[in-house]
Formats: sequence, C-alpha cells, structure tokens
Amino acid sequence: MNFYILTLFPDMVVAVMAESIMARARESKLVNIYPMNIRDFSADKHKKVDDYPYGGGAGMVMFCQPIFDAYQEALRRIGHEAPLVYLTPQGHTFTQQMAHDFLKYDALVLLCGHYEGVDERVIEEIVDFQISIGDYVLTGGELPAMVLVDAIARLVPGVLHNEASAGAESFENGLLEYPQYTRPRVWHGREVPEILLSGHHAKVDEWRLSQSKARTERIRPDLL
Ligand code: ADE
Repeated sequence: MNFYILTLFPDMVVAVMAESIMARARESKLVNIYPMNIRDFSADKHKKVDDYPYGGGAGMVMFCQPIFDAYQEALRRIGHEAPLVYLTPQGHTFTQQMAHDFLKYDALVLLCGHYEGVDERVIEEIVDFQISIGDYVLTGGELPAMVLVDAIARLVPGVLHNEASAGAESFENGLLEYPQYTRPRVWHGREVPEILLSGHHAKVDEWRLSQSKARTERIRPDLL
C-alpha cells in the first residue's frame, strides 16, 4: 500500500511514521509513505501557497495551483489513477469500514489542509473523498492523515504479525472489545476474572462476547 501525503509539514509525517509497527511495515515495504511538500510545487517566486480570502474574513486560504500540481506529480509517480482524499472537518466521519474499503487501492493521495482551508475550486476539480476524523477542529490535516494511514496500514496482510489480532478488536464485529488481562493474577487486590484461568476456550469466548455486549451497551449504545 502506497501513501502519498501532500503537506506543508512533511517532517510531521516522517516523525510519526518512524516508530513502532509503522516503521516495521515500511522497512518490509508492505507500506510506503511518500511525503510531498506542497510548497515545492508553488509557481510563485516566493513559494507562496496561501492568500487572503475573497469576501474578507480571518485567516488565509491555500490556493489551487500548488495543490493541483502536487497531485499531478503524485499521479505521475504512481503511474496510474489514484484517489485524492482531503482531510477536513467538513468531511464524512472516518470509520473502520472505510479503512477496509480503502484497502482496495494500491495507492492513496492524502491532502492535508492548513490555515482557514483550501480554495473550493481545487476541491471540486480533483478531490475524490473528503474525510473528517471527528467533530473537533485541529490546526491541520497532518494528524488526521496519519490516523487514516495507521488505520488502513494495519489491515494490510503481514503488517500485524499476529493476524488474528486485527479481527478481534473493537468495531470489527460492531462491538467494543472485551477487557484484557495479563500477569500478575492479583494486582492491588484486583483479581483476574476466574473464567480466564479455566482453560475452557468456549466458556472464555462466551464470557468475552457478553463483556463486549455489556460494554457497548453502556458506553456506545449508538453502535447497537
Ligand atoms: N483538519 C482539521 N480538523 C480536522 C478533522 N477533525 N478531521 C480531518 N481533518 C481535519
């Protein structure tokens, strides 16, 4: 899976992707991350990428030309069509199902906005999906882009060495995950539930499912 990240802050992307499972996935070439600095594509002699909004108002708006050219270059490098995903609080809310749906592409181009936003015309012209990671506003699209990359990349076969662990988690069966325990058996007077020590796999599965259902009912009844 190949991710091309159009951003004004490529170092942010590099830093997040240099650790843990993401670093390993990149080393194994199962996942490739290509940050591209939008500023490098500005035709302006001062490498400007933003300007005042028509109609007035606070902040600056990223203009069309560098974004359009950066996307064209990403497509040239990919060698075929690939969707452009714009991270914005105005988008559809990202879900586990969407992470699965994006796996069908071998390359995705992610556009990270900044300032007050992006000129609407370049969105109309080239953006295929507008995605939000939740109902709150961040300073830019870099962290949301990393959220998408992480959620999609961990579904790529081979990225998680314990393949079963991608399936047993929260949302994969429409429920929140059951509680997990490890050693010691007693910690601060709190005991691991007896059933987990029984070695009876069917009973353990049954208990976990009932815990998942109870937890979902209590915390996220909207999922049921
Ligand atoms: N950019 C700023 N806030 C965002 C959000 N909540 N989701 C996606 N992109 C964003």
